[in-house]
Amino acid sequence: MKSMLRSLYYALPVQWRYHARRLVYLPVDLFRKRHPLEPPKGMIYTGGGDFIAIGKTFFNYFKKYGALTPESQVLDIGSGIGRMAIPFTEFLNEKGRYEGFDVVKRGVDWCNKHVGSKYAHFNFQFVPLKNDLYNLDTADEAALYKFPYQDTDFDFAFLTSVFTHMMPNDLDNYLSEIHRVLKPGKICFATFFILDEVSSAHMKSGSKAFLFDKGHYTLMDEKVKEANVAYKKDFIFELANKNGFEVTEFIRGDWSGAKPDALNEHQDILILKKR
Ligand SMILES: C[S@@+](CC[C@H](N)C(=O)[O-])C[C@H]1O[C@@H](n2cnc3c(N)ncnc32)[C@H](O)[C@@H]1O
Repeated sequence: MKSMLRSLYYALPVQWRYHARRLVYLPVDLFRKRHPLEPPKGMIYTGGGDFIAIGKTFFNYFKKYGALTPESQVLDIGSGIGRMAIPFTEFLNEKGRYEGFDVVKRGVDWCNKHVGSKYAHFNFQFVPLKNDLYNLDTADEAALYKFPYQDTDFDFAFLTSVFTHMMPNDLDNYLSEIHRVLKPGKICFATFFILDEVSSAHMKSGSKAFLFDKGHYTLMDEKVKEANVAYKKDFIFELANKNGFEVTEFIRGDWSGAKPDALNEHQDILILKKR
């Protein structure tokens, strides 16, 4: 049933998906009390669950793995509609900096209007790049995109549920750009669906299906390729290494049906340290 609904949703043109969500959640949004920086449910196009609680949980991981301080310079790649930014508003001081960018204009506009306008050290940029789940209004490729920041600008970079929606050439370029904009020795925290012997074995018994094998990666939906992408472990580790990162931790999630590691997350997490 869930996978049928998902296929139906993906079958809608991108703009219609946004309108469908607004409509479905309208009754809830009319009456639900929410955090002052939280968007209405119908505007949240970045995944289900408790928007505020998920942001807080990941913020604690970022503090732990990224050794954050209130003065940290932080980069949120694929910043969506601000889920990860909210907890940082109570943490970063004015010497700190929070930069986000995303390919969906309405998410970036929301973040600038509701977060950037109140916190001068928070800034979000719309980058018109093609993604066949999120933005089909352009043909510009993420594989050629140069991040709008100087070399070694940042102390910490993260991507939550973003590389799970990107093709290999795009991912390769992003790792190279992340390496360029991070200071030496600093961390990139990124989530993935990683295929290794454990996740592949579990997936066969069927909790989440990536059925379309493309070599280094497999797809969940062949028509909307970037709907969900799972990468083979060796490929990702080699790509990270080639782009100047050491993988210091691989924290398994439960997406395949395998037993998750201690964080008990859905997606797998890699901690990448700039050499
Ligand atoms: C599942 S959402 C997650 C959003 C956010 N990271 C969060 O956890 O709330 C995936 C996000 O990645 C963005 N995205 C997809 N391709 C991108 C790209 N090439 N560059 C930057 N953002 C991208 C999408 O627009 C979307 O906002």
